Amino acid sequence: MSTTSSTSRALFLEEFGTLPKLGERPVPEPRPGHTLVRVAAATAAHLDLNILDGQFGILPELPFVPGTQGSGYVVASDTHPEGALVRLRGEGLGLSRDGAWAEHALVPDTAAEPMPEGTDPALACIYFSPVGTAWATVHAIAQVRPGERVLVTGASGAVGAVAVQLAARAGAEVVGAVGRPAKLAHVPGVAKALLASDLSEEAIGGKVDVLIDTVGGRILRDALTLVRPRGRAALLGYTAGRELTLDLADFFLADVSLLPVNMMSRGPEVAPEVLRLLPDLASGALTLPYESYGMDALGEAVERLRSGTAVGKIVLDMEHTGN
Ligand SMILES: NC(=O)c1ccc[n+]([C@@H]2O[C@H](COP(=O)([O-])OP(=O)(O)OC[C@H]3O[C@@H](n4cnc5c(N)ncnc54)[C@H](OP(=O)(O)O)[C@@H]3O)[C@@H](O)[C@H]2O)c1
Repeated sequence: MSTTSSTSRALFLEEFGTLPKLGERPVPEPRPGHTLVRVAAATAAHLDLNILDGQFGILPELPFVPGTQGSGYVVASDTHPEGALVRLRGEGLGLSRDGAWAEHALVPDTAAEPMPEGTDPALACIYFSPVGTAWATVHAIAQVRPGERVLVTGASGAVGAVAVQLAARAGAEVVGAVGRPAKLAHVPGVAKALLASDLSEEAIGGKVDVLIDTVGGRILRDALTLVRPRGRAALLGYTAGRELTLDLADFFLADVSLLPVNMMSRGPEVAPEVLRLLPDLASGALTLPYESYGMDALGEAVERLRSGTAVGKIVLDMEHTGN
């Protein structure tokens, strides 16, 4: 798409509970303190779905362009060099101001973070949260040590797949569990892959030192029984259920530390580590799963995300139509 054309395509949410529709609008006018970006890629994530559904605490006035995270190339800015790749997030992007599900976005300068030259724009928009979360979980929170045995649930998901790889890099022996047979093939090869429904001490060769749970609910309840006394369980997601009932007598007997992962508080401390992992992501030494869709295939992308059938992150590719 030419950056000189006066109109540009965007996805417009007209009513909560419906899918945004593809339409056109004038290319936003550059203004001081703001950066105009030709968007290359944007994430469609659960937060975006909550906003589409009208289920988030902060809701925009309609019509509205969603998209809380993206990446793209600077068209005009007082702060960022023209042509530079930037990651877009924060400052109410896709929440209280139009977001990244568009060919162009005008964002506060502080919502555009420069990325190293040559970074894949799809990686630039998706990498921070899953890689940061996996890094914080494996190193800062669960403190995985060489020789330990680690069980990761949701091991084909974005956070799970990276956690598997980082735990293996830390010297651990890793078992990766998934909910659906189709996802077994997407567990990184450094782990032994199993269906969550097949997990047992026998199947995984005895209790593990560390559980990293990304799905919650019944999967978490069952997986906790596979952690050795004085082991650790780092909990970071609740897609499969947000409640965990503890029988206190059993809890004391099991003697497993429950460790919450809160990336709202840990984001700044992991940022340098995450940036250090970018070259490995770019070279494929570390893999972050994602599926890519054109803006006109939003419906399919949202369905894959809602149903849990997607493998990893969902990226909207603004430079291509179709998927
Ligand atoms: N605590 C924090 O600070 C923090 C930070 C980042 C992310 N998170 C949370 O961590 C979790 C994992 O993130 P992610 O990016 O890896 O997510 P993801 O790739 O979308 O999902 C992880 C796994 O959850 C299962 N799943 C997904 N949708 C489901 C559904 N509708 N019903 C049942 N299971 C479903 C799937 O595993 P199977 O198909 O194998 O069952 C999927 O691979 C998310 O809940 C996310 O919100 C928390």
